[in-house]
Amino acid sequence: MAHRVGIIGGDGIGPEVTAVAVDVVRAAGVALDTVDYDLGGRRYLATGEVLPDETLEQLREYDAILLGAVGTPEVPPGVLERGLLLKMRFALDLYVNLRPFKSPGNRFNDGVDFLVVRENTEGTYAGEGGFLRKDTRNEIATQGSVNTRMGVERCVRYAFDLARSRDRKHCTLVHKTNVLTFAGDLWQRTFDEVASDYSDVQTAYNHVDAACIYFVQDPGRYDVIVTDNLFGDILTDLGGAISGGIGRAASANLNPARTGPSLFEPVHGSAPDIAGTGRADPRAAVISAAMMCDFLGETGAADRIRKAVEQTDDKEGTTAQIGAAICGAL
Ligand code: NAI
Ligand code: MG
Repeated sequence: MAHRVGIIGGDGIGPEVTAVAVDVVRAAGVALDTVDYDLGGRRYLATGEVLPDETLEQLREYDAILLGAVGTPEVPPGVLERGLLLKMRFALDLYVNLRPFKSPGNRFNDGVDFLVVRENTEGTYAGEGGFLRKDTRNEIATQGSVNTRMGVERCVRYAFDLARSRDRKHCTLVHKTNVLTFAGDLWQRTFDEVASDYSDVQTAYNHVDAACIYFVQDPGRYDVIVTDNLFGDILTDLGGAISGGIGRAASANLNPARTGPSLFEPVHGSAPDIAGTGRADPRAAVISAAMMCDFLGETGAADRIRKAVEQTDDKEGTTAQIGAAICGAL
């Protein structure tokens, strides 16, 4: 049976790298039944629509969603982030943002192999807050951080399950418990309680500022990291920088409870500076598609795709040439 996948290529290089990712998945022997959705900056500029409700309802019905990138220089910041990306995270309850970091070593380190589990629906991204006396000299803006026991626990449990499935079986909580004493306390207590159910998983705790140092100076200490939405956003960009850069950074927005589809996307944006030139590196989109295969139960294909990407790591060329090389190495 073919997996039903909704494709949101988006803007700029998004459709270019997504097309390659779909080709690679099919070449790996996974049958996909795909439908393309025209969403993103171009659509917004043409029609004023970001994510119509009926489109969102259609997207709910897929086994997975593959996204390229959205954004064009003419669209004001926030429109697509809040109206499309965050809206899908909340509406589809994509409560885990998973990002793998694996590289054989570079000028920063001798190689890394860890994953960050970022809580994806709460924290400062929940949109709590507002303005008072806006545009006056007495203006006040608040932006609260929402942390629910349920939301934290399901994310932490996912991280422990993931750690248990790996050789090292190690899970690190990253937070700022010494200053964010309410949210941090909830996270730490939840982490400790969940840990007691996983006696085979070793644990550690780092403050987020210390974690920034370790990411650069000693990333080998990490196996699975679990952290809140904002810390995870920032930390994963640093993770990308120390492990092969933007061309390799992949991500999955997961609904592990499987009450709807999960969404897979490269971390990079629409790269308007190189769109249409054929110079976009499709590897981050391909690795994201491998994560999709994992989640769809196609683990053999996922492993073959990742291995093919590793084997063609030094291949340079156009988007299509790199895609063909990966398919050839499958
Ligand atoms: P960007 O990631 O699009 O580009 C940053 C730099 O990296 C550019 O020089 C670009 O050419 C290069 N680059 C990115 N991906 C590449 C690839 N696959 N191969 C080769 N080079 C690559 O970030 P930027 O410039 O800040 O944002 C451009 C647009 O993308 C904006 O509209 C932004 O809002 C949007 N964006 C969308 C995201 C999403 O859909 N999840 C994420 C990040 C940005
Ligand atoms: Mg980010």
